[in-house]
Amino acid sequence: MVGHTPVLWISTPFSSSDRGFWAKLEGFNPGGMKDRPAMHMVERARARGELQPGARIIESTSGTFGLGLALAGTMYRHPVTLVTDPGMEPIIQRMLSAFGAYVDLVTEPHPAGGWQQARRDRVAELLSHDEHAWYPDQYNNPDNVDAYQPLALELNAQLGQVDMLVCSVGTGGHSAGIARVLRQFNPDMRLIGVDTIGSTIFGQPASSRLMRGLGSSIYPRNVDYAAFDEVHWVAPAEAVWACRTLAATHYASGGWSVGAVALVAGWAARNHPRGTTIAAVFPDGPQRYFDTVYNDDYCRQHGLLDRDPPSEPALIAHPGEHVVQSWTRCETVIDPMEVAG
Ligand SMILES: Cc1ncc(COP(=O)(O)O)c(C=O)c1O
Repeated sequence: MVGHTPVLWISTPFSSSDRGFWAKLEGFNPGGMKDRPAMHMVERARARGELQPGARIIESTSGTFGLGLALAGTMYRHPVTLVTDPGMEPIIQRMLSAFGAYVDLVTEPHPAGGWQQARRDRVAELLSHDEHAWYPDQYNNPDNVDAYQPLALELNAQLGQVDMLVCSVGTGGHSAGIARVLRQFNPDMRLIGVDTIGSTIFGQPASSRLMRGLGSSIYPRNVDYAAFDEVHWVAPAEAVWACRTLAATHYASGGWSVGAVALVAGWAARNHPRGTTIAAVFPDGPQRYFDTVYNDDYCRQHGLLDRDPPSEPALIAHPGEHVVQSWTRCETVIDPMEVAG
């Protein structure tokens, strides 16, 4: 059930009709893209003896990885506890429970590290009470990156040589893992990272974020900073426009990360020669976003339906230049932890 997902050609209105990009539809996995790292990480931890038969898996997740862990827990017979926050959509909370996982909800954000840090603190607390429990740590575990080798090989078989890869960045796992393998076939392949405004990953200050899946309020070590040629920050209204336009014109759509990636991949297609093979990863499908991205009341309430996005992103020379509030790109990619020493 996991892997061998299809690719779909996306063209107008994201690009002119003679150009476009290939979307890798990871929503075709039973839980979404993160079924791949969840299965792989559990298999590796079992093989190394870090995860004992029947031991509990405890992880912090905003949803997709939780669905993958619930699948891996079912396959390999491990109880699963998923620490999440009130931003997790009710449909995902209920489905995770239905799939047999225990959902543990934190109620207050950490004053500096936001919901993500609050979730990680809660994971540490739960781990301290269960000496056999295993923590996958998707933000820092290199098995999260390695898990994407099959996806990269699928892309190579489906598209031939890939010239440009567009990926959203949360833990950094799929961008790092896919780029590493595809560059064995094409060392000149360009990698574009897509983040949300208000995310710290690429050196912007943390602020409250509407978009989930991509972005972070911490600095995940699985982000392969050196692998990126440029980064784009996208705002929620721009992602909503792209999600709804994808749905209306291509039937295939998804959530915040899909919209943001489609917006940027369409821009890349418009700005590179015809024949450039561009692959963009769509991490999930649209269903869980029926009450956010696809809900007019929710979108109006958050001012997300006011206008179409600009045809070009703004450009900054350095991530520290100023705080970005709308679609912006930057060709200087820095690791904020390294800069901070
Ligand atoms: C829906 C969605 N999109 C994008 C991402 C980012 O992927 P990665 O963690 O591999 O950087 C995630 C990660 O949780 C996700 O759930």
